[in-house]
Amino acid sequence: MLKRTLIIAVTSIALLALSGTTGFAADAPDPAKLYKKCMGCHSKDGKGNPKFRAKKNPNLPDFSDPAWKKKQTHEKVRKGIAEGVPSPCKEGPACNVEKGHYKGKMKGYAKKYSAEELDILTKYVLSFGK
Ligand code: HEC
Repeated sequence: MLKRTLIIAVTSIALLALSGTTGFAADAPDPAKLYKKCMGCHSKDGKGNPKFRAKKNPNLPDFSDPAWKKKQTHEKVRKGIAEGVPSPCKEGPACNVEKGHYKGKMKGYAKKYSAEELDILTKYVLSFGK
Protein backbone atom coordinates (compact mmCIF):
# COMPACT_ATOMS: atom_id res chain seq x y z
CA MET A 1 0.00 0.00 0.00
CA LEU A 2 2.76 2.39 0.95
CA LYS A 3 4.63 1.49 -2.21
CA ARG A 4 1.58 2.26 -4.34
CA THR A 5 1.06 5.64 -2.71
CA LEU A 6 4.69 6.40 -3.32
CA ILE A 7 4.44 5.52 -7.01
CA ILE A 8 1.38 7.72 -7.42
CA ALA A 9 3.14 10.58 -5.65
CA VAL A 10 6.27 10.29 -7.80
CA THR A 11 4.22 10.10 -11.00
CA SER A 12 2.21 13.20 -10.05
CA ILE A 13 5.37 15.16 -9.31
CA ALA A 14 6.89 14.10 -12.64
CA LEU A 15 3.72 15.13 -14.49
CA LEU A 16 3.65 18.47 -12.72
CA ALA A 17 7.27 19.12 -13.63
CA LEU A 18 6.58 18.21 -17.25
CA SER A 19 3.56 20.49 -17.55
CA GLY A 20 5.67 23.30 -16.14
CA THR A 21 8.24 23.09 -18.90
CA THR A 22 6.30 21.93 -21.93
CA GLY A 23 2.73 22.95 -21.12
CA PHE A 24 0.79 26.15 -21.79
CA ALA A 25 3.55 28.49 -20.63
CA ALA A 26 5.88 27.48 -23.44
CA ASP A 27 3.23 27.94 -26.16
CA ALA A 28 2.49 31.62 -25.54
CA PRO A 29 5.39 33.98 -26.31
CA ASP A 30 6.84 35.66 -23.22
CA PRO A 31 6.25 39.45 -23.56
CA ALA A 32 9.33 40.35 -21.51
CA LYS A 33 11.47 38.24 -23.85
CA LEU A 34 9.97 39.84 -26.95
CA TYR A 35 10.65 43.26 -25.42
CA LYS A 36 14.38 42.50 -25.01
CA LYS A 37 15.10 43.89 -28.50
CA CYS A 38 13.61 47.23 -27.43
CA MET A 39 15.29 47.72 -24.06
CA GLY A 40 18.47 49.40 -25.33
CA CYS A 41 16.43 52.48 -26.24
CA HIS A 42 13.16 52.14 -24.31
CA SER A 43 14.75 50.61 -21.16
CA LYS A 44 13.42 47.77 -19.05
CA ASP A 45 10.85 49.91 -17.22
CA GLY A 46 9.63 51.58 -20.43
CA LYS A 47 10.69 55.04 -19.32
CA GLY A 48 13.31 55.32 -22.06
CA ASN A 49 17.11 55.45 -21.92
CA PRO A 50 17.96 59.07 -20.90
CA LYS A 51 21.28 59.00 -22.78
CA PHE A 52 19.57 57.91 -25.95
CA ARG A 53 16.96 60.65 -25.53
CA ALA A 54 19.64 63.32 -25.03
CA LYS A 55 21.97 62.23 -27.82
CA LYS A 56 19.86 60.57 -30.49
CA ASN A 57 16.19 61.47 -30.35
CA PRO A 58 14.38 63.79 -27.93
CA ASN A 59 11.04 62.29 -28.98
CA LEU A 60 11.76 58.97 -27.31
CA PRO A 61 8.53 58.34 -25.39
CA ASP A 62 8.10 57.35 -21.74
CA PHE A 63 5.69 54.39 -21.90
CA SER A 64 4.80 54.83 -18.22
CA ASP A 65 3.83 58.50 -18.54
CA PRO A 66 0.02 58.92 -18.22
CA ALA A 67 0.13 61.85 -20.67
CA TRP A 68 1.71 59.59 -23.31
CA LYS A 69 -0.61 56.71 -22.56
CA LYS A 70 -3.68 58.89 -22.94
CA LYS A 71 -2.84 59.56 -26.58
CA GLN A 72 -2.33 55.91 -27.50
CA THR A 73 -4.49 53.17 -28.93
CA HIS A 74 -3.59 49.55 -29.53
CA GLU A 75 -3.69 50.16 -33.31
CA LYS A 76 -1.42 53.21 -33.17
CA VAL A 77 1.21 51.57 -30.98
CA ARG A 78 1.14 48.36 -33.03
CA LYS A 79 1.61 50.33 -36.24
CA GLY A 80 4.57 52.21 -34.73
CA ILE A 81 6.25 48.94 -33.75
CA ALA A 82 5.54 47.23 -37.07
CA GLU A 83 6.29 50.08 -39.48
CA GLY A 84 8.52 52.36 -37.45
CA VAL A 85 8.14 56.06 -36.68
CA PRO A 86 9.36 58.67 -39.20
CA SER A 87 10.85 61.06 -36.56
CA PRO A 88 11.11 64.17 -38.78
CA CYS A 89 13.46 66.88 -37.47
CA LYS A 90 14.80 70.28 -38.55
CA GLU A 91 17.50 71.26 -36.08
CA GLY A 92 19.42 70.33 -32.93
CA PRO A 93 22.45 68.12 -32.20
CA ALA A 94 20.49 64.89 -32.55
CA CYS A 95 19.06 65.93 -35.90
CA ASN A 96 20.40 64.17 -38.95
CA VAL A 97 19.70 67.10 -41.28
CA GLU A 98 20.87 65.35 -44.45
CA LYS A 99 18.53 62.44 -43.97
CA GLY A 100 15.76 64.58 -42.50
CA HIS A 101 15.23 62.56 -39.31
CA TYR A 102 16.65 62.14 -35.82
CA LYS A 103 19.73 59.93 -35.59
CA GLY A 104 17.89 57.41 -33.45
CA LYS A 105 14.93 56.78 -35.65
CA MET A 106 12.49 54.07 -34.58
CA LYS A 107 12.67 51.42 -37.28
CA GLY A 108 9.92 48.96 -38.12
CA TYR A 109 9.85 45.46 -36.66
CA ALA A 110 7.25 43.81 -38.90
CA LYS A 111 9.81 41.29 -40.18
CA LYS A 112 11.10 40.38 -36.71
CA TYR A 113 7.79 39.41 -35.11
CA SER A 114 4.72 37.44 -36.07
CA ALA A 115 1.29 39.14 -36.02
CA GLU A 116 0.54 37.48 -32.69
CA GLU A 117 3.85 38.61 -31.21
CA LEU A 118 3.22 42.18 -32.33
CA ASP A 119 -0.10 42.17 -30.48
CA ILE A 120 1.49 40.76 -27.33
CA LEU A 121 4.29 43.33 -27.50
CA THR A 122 1.78 46.15 -28.00
CA LYS A 123 -0.14 45.10 -24.88
CA TYR A 124 3.13 44.89 -22.96
CA VAL A 125 4.15 48.43 -24.01
CA LEU A 126 0.73 49.75 -22.97
CA SER A 127 0.96 47.99 -19.59
CA PHE A 128 3.87 50.08 -18.26
CA GLY A 129 2.98 52.39 -15.38
CA LYS A 130 -0.23 50.58 -14.57
C1 HEC B 1 17.26 52.37 -31.66
C2 HEC B 1 16.37 52.71 -30.57
C3 HEC B 1 15.02 52.06 -30.53
C4 HEC B 1 14.72 50.72 -30.48
C5 HEC B 1 15.67 49.54 -30.47
C6 HEC B 1 13.28 50.64 -30.39
N1 HEC B 1 12.71 51.89 -30.41
FE1 HEC B 1 10.76 52.34 -30.22
N2 HEC B 1 11.17 54.31 -30.48
C7 HEC B 1 12.43 54.84 -30.57
C8 HEC B 1 12.32 56.28 -30.73
C9 HEC B 1 13.47 57.24 -30.88
C10 HEC B 1 10.95 56.59 -30.76
C11 HEC B 1 10.32 57.97 -30.96
C12 HEC B 1 10.26 58.25 -32.40
C13 HEC B 1 9.81 59.66 -32.68
O1 HEC B 1 8.64 59.96 -32.41
O2 HEC B 1 10.63 60.44 -33.17
C14 HEC B 1 10.26 55.33 -30.57
C15 HEC B 1 8.88 55.20 -30.52
C16 HEC B 1 8.23 54.05 -30.18
C17 HEC B 1 6.82 53.96 -29.97
C18 HEC B 1 5.82 55.09 -30.07
C19 HEC B 1 5.16 55.04 -31.40
C20 HEC B 1 4.15 56.15 -31.56
O3 HEC B 1 3.20 55.93 -32.30
O4 HEC B 1 4.30 57.21 -30.97
C21 HEC B 1 6.56 52.66 -29.62
C22 HEC B 1 5.21 52.06 -29.28
C23 HEC B 1 7.82 51.95 -29.65
N3 HEC B 1 8.81 52.82 -29.99
C24 HEC B 1 7.96 50.62 -29.36
C25 HEC B 1 9.14 49.90 -29.54
C26 HEC B 1 9.23 48.46 -29.39
C27 HEC B 1 8.11 47.56 -28.96
C28 HEC B 1 10.53 48.15 -29.70
C29 HEC B 1 11.15 46.76 -29.75
C30 HEC B 1 10.57 45.82 -30.69
C31 HEC B 1 11.23 49.37 -30.00
N4 HEC B 1 10.34 50.41 -29.90
C32 HEC B 1 12.57 49.45 -30.32
C33 HEC B 1 13.61 54.16 -30.51
C34 HEC B 1 13.75 52.78 -30.49
